[in-house]
Amino acid sequence: MTEMTGAELFGARRVAFGAYAATYDAVRPEWPSKTVAWMLGSPATATVCRTVDLGAGTGKGTRAIAALGHEVIAVEPSDGMRKTLAVTLGTLPGIVAARICVVAGDAECARVLRPGGWLSLGWHHRSEDVEWSRELTDIVERHEKQPDDEEAPPVGKEFEPFETEVFTYRMRQSIEDLVLHASTWSYVAIHPECARILDDVRALGRRVADTDGMVEIPWTTRCYRQRRR
Ligand SMILES: C[S@@+](CC[C@H](N)C(=O)[O-])C[C@H]1O[C@@H](n2cnc3c(N)ncnc32)[C@H](O)[C@@H]1O
Repeated sequence: MTEMTGAELFGARRVAFGAYAATYDAVRPEWPSKTVAWMLGSPATATVCRTVDLGAGTGKGTRAIAALGHEVIAVEPSDGMRKTLAVTLGTLPGIVAARICVVAGDAECARVLRPGGWLSLGWHHRSEDVEWSRELTDIVERHEKQPDDEEAPPVGKEFEPFETEVFTYRMRQSIEDLVLHASTWSYVAIHPECARILDDVRALGRRVADTDGMVEIPWTTRCYRQRRR
């Protein structure tokens, strides 16, 4: 197999999600309401916000924002992700679904934000403060250490300096959901030895699961927000 360049690998990872969108939606971490509220400018925000969820994926963040009473324009370039998002709208109470508008595409944040509006970014990271989570990293990054995707937002002249907050929570998952979850990490999904990596994840899950066959994944969500001047 020909080795991919860094740019080719990034491009392949960027569009890898659409093919397994329903699995992604079922097993990836949620956005806890306190995280979403902070990203929307809390505690100052008491009113209904008009928001854009850029790179909305299957709508995990979109649904969390709408559940808090805010309006969301969910912008997502992948047909597969948007299709799953559309299906999930049917599972929401009508009043919540009515706050969501889904569009294909991407956007320029500075152009669509009004003065005083927040540009917020958030990244979920699996914490490595428990031994088995470090073992999981060793399995999935066995062949290649993954670069940290997280980027602080650009401090352009249109924006005030950014603020940062970190949220933590634990996600309980069955062993098979843990395996599915790992299969949605884009660098695992496109890896030639994906099946073998997932077998090792399953073996780890079986070794560390509790008596109910569940594992608890420690998550840290790092968020950034900055106001449009
Ligand atoms: C890791 S997923 C996150 C999805 C969702 N925000 C969530 O929290 O589950 C990243 C999403 O960004 C989308 N994406 C990739 N490049 C993009 C771009 N240039 N503009 C907008 N979205 C993009 C991908 O299709 C994918 O659905």
